[in-house]
Amino acid sequence: MTMQEKINELLKLRETARLGGGEKRIEKQHAQGKFTARERILMFLDEGSFEEFDMFVTHRCTNFGMEKEKYLSDGVVTGYGTVEGRLVFVYSQDFTVFGGSLSETVSNKICKVLDQAMKMGAPVIGFNDSGGARIQEGVNSLAGYSEIFQRNILASGVIPQISAIFGPCAGGAVYSPALTDFIMMVKNTSYMFVTGPKVVKTVTNEDVTVEELGGAMMHSTKSGVAHFAVDNEEIGIAQIRKLLSYVPSNNMEEPPFKATGDPINRLEDALNQIIPDNPNKPYDVKDVILSIVDDGDFFEIHENYAKNIMVGFARFNGMSVGIVANQPKYLAGVLDINSSRKGARFIRFCDAFNIPLVTLVDVPGFLPGTQQEYGALILHGAKLMYAYGEATVPKVTVILRKNYGGAYCVMSSKHLRGDINYAWPTAEIAVMGEKGAVEILSGREISAIEDKEQRAEFIAEKEEEYRKAFANPYIAARYGYIDDVIEPRNTRFRVIRALESLRNKRLENPAKKHDNLPL
Ligand code: HXC
Repeated sequence: MTMQEKINELLKLRETARLGGGEKRIEKQHAQGKFTARERILMFLDEGSFEEFDMFVTHRCTNFGMEKEKYLSDGVVTGYGTVEGRLVFVYSQDFTVFGGSLSETVSNKICKVLDQAMKMGAPVIGFNDSGGARIQEGVNSLAGYSEIFQRNILASGVIPQISAIFGPCAGGAVYSPALTDFIMMVKNTSYMFVTGPKVVKTVTNEDVTVEELGGAMMHSTKSGVAHFAVDNEEIGIAQIRKLLSYVPSNNMEEPPFKATGDPINRLEDALNQIIPDNPNKPYDVKDVILSIVDDGDFFEIHENYAKNIMVGFARFNGMSVGIVANQPKYLAGVLDINSSRKGARFIRFCDAFNIPLVTLVDVPGFLPGTQQEYGALILHGAKLMYAYGEATVPKVTVILRKNYGGAYCVMSSKHLRGDINYAWPTAEIAVMGEKGAVEILSGREISAIEDKEQRAEFIAEKEEEYRKAFANPYIAARYGYIDDVIEPRNTRFRVIRALESLRNKRLENPAKKHDNLPL
């Protein structure tokens, strides 16, 4: 063979590899509104930056006549490239090759990418679109999954790991995404479950559709497994690129800085009016977030799950931060099982990756009731407390309104190593609200009053007395539990100054093998 012939052979092999499982299957993929594995990578990475690994890999299985059916690259496309100029590693399961199922060689390819990403300290993004374990390979496929799981576990907290679910994801295959930091699903074309509807029917006799059991809406509203549910893959890919802009490439780096023209001392007069006179009236804490962060840009995570707490990324004078805010608009911003888990998970991500935390507090307390207690609210609430207490990143807190009981302790209080804690003049910091307090403190006197009207009047008086005495920020300020009471319209400036003062914060937790987070 001449040199040119050899080069032509290479080019032909590449062409064959790029066709994956063949044109027919690619057409089927497109007809379902899905892109192919390679198309997804090319859309995701900066133009011209993709470098592919292992294009010539083929499976080694000889069961069920498999030796006669081989595709270059096997069921996954892997490699690296850049996103906004920063190195990232990718793998993208190819549904056109044996349904993207996981063979020993597919696993080897994914593991190579994970190992390389760990060496280089760069994020890994996986596009999942797979029928699960390659049935013909039996235990070798299970071994392959386990090798991936082990790497996901060791990479956790070292490099960001993001899973895009762009098709089926069933059986044990869901556990690799579950071990990663963020899960994105596409509405109507993706699903995740441990066992599919047919097995569910046999075991529990439940009739359930794929969508109900593991669709994007279910996982982004009910289970909380998915952080994002997007309308299509293009939106999803743009979202992942944006997400990466807030996070560092690894746990030894600082998050990327993005310069802004938004003045740091911008006054927001509307914030001086935002808290309603009636303490039981809600407002939208998102309005507060949008008006204080750079350019009104807030990247919300878990938008549709546990809406009583909001979490997401934003920037203050170019610095990337994680925002945690109770949302009075939903369930009065109460802390329950789901909001505690949502908050804790986000805080731990931020802490692992050196992203400062800004907490906006307006919380009436923990949600009472059997449903919550049976579901182990104690443990889940403890997770949130644990996450705040162990976090060593800069922590700035602003108490907007209510901050009662255990929720006071939990929500990034001074006592859980909050660095700078501010309160608006509208803050109410006490052991409990006036109703509960008056019932307990004046219960005997109340029941001694027989006349209904007189009793109501007495209760109202006592409640007012309690509110006057306790529903303010000045008692906490007197003890130094908050550092200052600030004018709401000046919040942006005060938060930026606080964060800037904390830039060189050094704080370490005691050495240990690992912690024992309440699970
Ligand atoms: C080998 C598979 C496969 C698999 C699909 N294919 N899944 N090949 N192993 N697991 C092949 C099909 O034979 C078909 O080949 C092609 O992929 C496309 O599949 P279709 O069924 O035609 O596609 P569709 O109708 O879209 O259905 C997709 C699907 C279905 C819902 C994912 O294929 C399916 O149910 N697959 C099996 C899922 C499953 O039970 N997996 C094992 C889970 S247990 P041709 O040649 O026709 O194109 C598991 C354990 C992991 O994963 C444990 C880790 C701890």
